[in-house]
Amino acid sequence: MSTPFDFSGKTVFIAGGTSGINLGVAHAFAKAGAKLAVISRKQDKVDAAVAALKTHGGEAVGFAVDVRDYAAVEAAFKETQSRLGAIDVLISGAAGNFPSPALGISPNGFKSVVDIDLLGTFHVLRSAYPYLNKPGASIVNISAPQAYIPMEFQMHVCAAKAGVDMVTRVAAMEWAAAGVRINSVTPGPIDGTEGMNRLAPNEATRKLVAESVPLGHFGSTDDIANACLWLSSPYARYVTGVVLPVDGGWSLGGLSVSSAGMKKAFTAAG
Ligand code: COA
Ligand code: NAP
Repeated sequence: MSTPFDFSGKTVFIAGGTSGINLGVAHAFAKAGAKLAVISRKQDKVDAAVAALKTHGGEAVGFAVDVRDYAAVEAAFKETQSRLGAIDVLISGAAGNFPSPALGISPNGFKSVVDIDLLGTFHVLRSAYPYLNKPGASIVNISAPQAYIPMEFQMHVCAAKAGVDMVTRVAAMEWAAAGVRINSVTPGPIDGTEGMNRLAPNEATRKLVAESVPLGHFGSTDDIANACLWLSSPYARYVTGVVLPVDGGWSLGGLSVSSAGMKKAFTAAG
C-alpha cells in the first residue's frame, strides 16, 4: 500500500528500531521520504537495519545503544542532530518481554523489563527533548494492551507499560506549550514479531490468540506503521496525550484477553 503521508526532509528517530514492529515503522517513514536514525543494543542488528533503510534512497544512521544507559542515549541524539538535523518525529519502542508467573520472575527479571520499557522510555524522551524540532515535533511511545489489561504471566510488562502510558499523558501536558505532541500506540498481536513468538510460540496458542481478536486475525507491522505516520503528521495536529489501540478490537476484552484466557494460552504453550 503506498502512503498518503509525506515526510520528505524530516528526521525520524526510532529507539528499538532495528527489528519487528519498530523496524516496520522505520521502513514506512523511510518510504515516505524521511531521514532515519535507529538505536538498539546489538551492532549487527543496527548495521542491518541501516543498510535496509538506505534502500529507500534516503539517509539512515544507527547507533548501538542500550536505552538503560542515559549518557549513551543522549549521545545518540546529539550525533543524530549533527548528521541529520533536529528531530521531527521520535518513536520510542525498545522493550523486553518474557512470559512468566509472578513467582517465577526474579527481582532482576522484573527490574530488567521495567528498566528497558519504562525507565528506558523516560531516558529516550528526556534526552531527546533538547534535540526536538519545536514547535511541531511528534512523539509516539509504542506501548501494549498490557498497560490497561491485567494479564497473568505479564506482571512485569503490565506494570512497565502502564507507566509508559502515564509518561505519555504527563509529557503531553507539560510539553504542549512548546508545540510537542506525544501519544501512545498499543499494538494488538502482530504477526511475525519477536513479541508474538514469545507469547504465542506454537500453532495452538497462535490460534487461541487469533480467535480472541474481534476482527479475527493478527495485525501486521504496517498496521502499526500507518498509525504512527498519521499520529506524526499534520492530520493529527490536534491529537495529543492519546493511548490508541491498534489491535483489531482485542482490548475490548473478549474472553481470551481476560486473565483466564491468557492463562490458558500460556499453559497450552507449556
Ligand atoms: N523467565 C523468567 N526470568 C527470565 C526469563 C524468563 N523467560 N528470561 C530472562 N529472565 C530473567 C533472567 O534470569 C535475569 O534474572 P536473574 O539475574 O535474577 O537470573 C533477568 O531476567 C535479566 O536477564 P538478562 O538475560 O540478563 O537480561 P537482559 O537485559 O540481557 O535481557 C530480557 C532483557 C530478559 C527482557 C530479554 O528477554 C531481552 O533482551 N528481550 C528483548 C527482546 C524482546 O523481548 N522482544 C519482545 C519485545 S515485546
Ligand atoms: P522486537 O523485534 O524484539 O523489538 C524490540 C526492539 O527493541 C529491538 O530492536 C531490540 O533490539 C530493541 N531493544 C530491546 N532491548 C533494548 C535495550 N535495552 N536498549 C535498546 N534497544 C533495545 O519486538 P516486537 O515484538 O517487534 O516489539 C516492538 C514493540 O512493540 C515493543 O515496544 C513491544 O512492547 C510492542 N508490542 C509488541 C506486540 C507484538 O505483537 N509483537 C504487541 C504489543 C506491543 P536489540 O536486541 O538489538 O536491542
